Amino acid sequence: MDTHMHWTRDMDGIVWLHLDQQKSSVNTLSSEVLIELGRAIDEIAQTTPAGLVLLSDKPTGFIAGADVNEFSNIANAKEAESYIHQAHKILARIEGLPCATVAMITGFCLGGGLELALACRYRVAEDAPSTRIGFPEVKLGIFPGFGGSVRSIQKAGVLKAMPLMLSGRTLNARAAKKQGLVDLIVPKRQLVNGVKQLLLSRPAVAKANRWQRMLNHTPLRSVVAHYLTAQTRKQAKPEHYPAPFALIEHWKRTGDDPDKMYASEARSVSELICGSTSKNLVHVYQLQEKLKRLGSEAEGFKPQHVHVIGGGIMGGDIAAWCALRGMRVTLQDREAKYLTQAVARADQLFKKRLKNSYLVQAANDRLMPDLKGHGVSKADVVIEAIFEDIEAKQALYREIEPKLKEDALLATNTSSIPLETLAEVLESPGRFIGLHFFNPVAKMLLVEVVHRKEALPQQIDRACAFVKQIGKLPLPVKSSPGFLVNRILMPYLLEAVNLYDEGVQPEIIDRAALDFGMPMGPIELADTVGLDICLSVAEKLSQHYGNEVPDTLGRLVKQGALGRKSGQGFYTYDATGKRIGQKVASSPNLHQLADRMILRLLNESVACLNEQIVENEDLLDAGVIFGTGFAPFRGGPLHYIHQAGSEKMQLRLNQFEKQLGRRFAATHGWQAVV
Ligand code: NAI
Repeated sequence: MDTHMHWTRDMDGIVWLHLDQQKSSVNTLSSEVLIELGRAIDEIAQTTPAGLVLLSDKPTGFIAGADVNEFSNIANAKEAESYIHQAHKILARIEGLPCATVAMITGFCLGGGLELALACRYRVAEDAPSTRIGFPEVKLGIFPGFGGSVRSIQKAGVLKAMPLMLSGRTLNARAAKKQGLVDLIVPKRQLVNGVKQLLLSRPAVAKANRWQRMLNHTPLRSVVAHYLTAQTRKQAKPEHYPAPFALIEHWKRTGDDPDKMYASEARSVSELICGSTSKNLVHVYQLQEKLKRLGSEAEGFKPQHVHVIGGGIMGGDIAAWCALRGMRVTLQDREAKYLTQAVARADQLFKKRLKNSYLVQAANDRLMPDLKGHGVSKADVVIEAIFEDIEAKQALYREIEPKLKEDALLATNTSSIPLETLAEVLESPGRFIGLHFFNPVAKMLLVEVVHRKEALPQQIDRACAFVKQIGKLPLPVKSSPGFLVNRILMPYLLEAVNLYDEGVQPEIIDRAALDFGMPMGPIELADTVGLDICLSVAEKLSQHYGNEVPDTLGRLVKQGALGRKSGQGFYTYDATGKRIGQKVASSPNLHQLADRMILRLLNESVACLNEQIVENEDLLDAGVIFGTGFAPFRGGPLHYIHQAGSEKMQLRLNQFEKQLGRRFAATHGWQAVV
């Protein structure tokens, strides 16, 4: 009895093979599904159909990719290779069917799903914003392994297919048609007609143009490969992210011979999938899925209306983001001019993200300036983002609490005031929670859901559900100075300033961190955040944790050198915010410099785990990766400690402590991280 698919035959002899994976809201190309697909294809082939259509019964779309959770079960590269060969055979059988075949694409058609679609003779896609087509494999440290690297180049040409596979980005239906990956795009109601039209008219099969095909032959192939490698190096280092480089190499070796290319794809992907980068990126993917599942307990909580108080940098951008994600938003401030500025910034965001003028208009309509604060009594979630001032915040709470809807969530975006202090003035503190968004709101995926000891679990769930509803990742953290992300980031930034004080060139400090795999150097990060903000957070945290704040930070702020926004910080910037006088950075001891900064970050991570700021290691790793960009290919700070060896790290801390002082003393909790 088939479980993940079923097929029907219509009056024209066309077989419609419906994919509907059991116990899953999306279709994946799991090993079970793939094997069942192979069997179904054999059975269908015996009935000599007039045509075969692959389609999905899931509202989420066609196929979202391979089943990533199965990656961890692969024992070794040999096992992976034999599995890939099996997949190649099944897709080759579809490709070799004597009847015409069509993939009917709706929603997600990613990774293995796109590879399967490419094995069909034609592809029809729904022309809708929900249609997403692409190869996200590089994000998991591999490249398409079910024949996708061969067929996408055959159909679209190397210059179109390669950037898609190398970047992992997804396309909408129109862009996919332009790239040659889809033959026809139609609105939903025309999908079945579109399929039939293709089966009747049988147009020529998509094939890359002559010029693109020529590039598959030597010596042009090595020139193109050289160019692609140089471009890719600008985005990633081969020692950190080997997959894109392996993909180019695989094409360079075998690009003119499909048989060799299939074999090389199987070998190369099998090696990558067993390497540490892929394993760690899969771990990060699983962490992300874990965060997405938080809040699923609060099923009945579907907020529609958000009221934001404080239309400054944070409040204005939080309001805009919520409106972008479909919420009705009222935005309150003491002064109309801040509302005007916030609404103008929101319009820019809507234009950038939504493009279509009707959608932009609708988003603008959802965001209502509300000087008098009428929205307070109607909102499901009220977010306070006014000045970082205890009395101002408490006075506001006293005023608004009696007006709140009975089951409304009251949240603060405070970055440093203990929630316990703010809650003192509330009659019903149970509904009070921290929603700590990061700046810039539109870019940062993580939101810390800050809770007091007394917080009700259902309120934490409701807050997580809200964060998920606006497309961000929620991370529950205990209310404690700096919460999780800022607290862990601060010692790392301060160590960078110590190095600067010792006379190390800022470019070299940043280079050391980039070489470790951080997305931005700490000196550049401090300049970007603003040295005044860094100083204020550092001073507040030092009151609790006793970190020494290097004098340099205070001196620069006093001189008005606040970073990028003032034109001068550690670096100098022009009027457009571009860095000037950039020096080439190289030093023989980059590794040692990175060690100093990263070890302080790791030490603070262990302290946070020990104090149970978050519930477990996975949540800590997720928070630091999604909140700071900590080298994803290393799988998070605690994952990294386990891989590199906890004892080795502690020894290194001891050495630095002897050499540089108490700030490197191993915190409590290392014994538990083995
Ligand atoms: P901001 O100074 O840009 O904006 C504050 C806004 O609140 C101003 O427009 C002001 O007119 C308004 N306001 C003050 N009192 C008010 C009242 N009683 N009623 C209505 N409006 C009032 O401040 P920013 O940077 O947006 O920070 C807001 C909150 O977000 C603070 O608690 C801060 O700690 C927190 N935060 C800031 C981050 C940042 O990077 N700026 C990052 C994360 C949190």
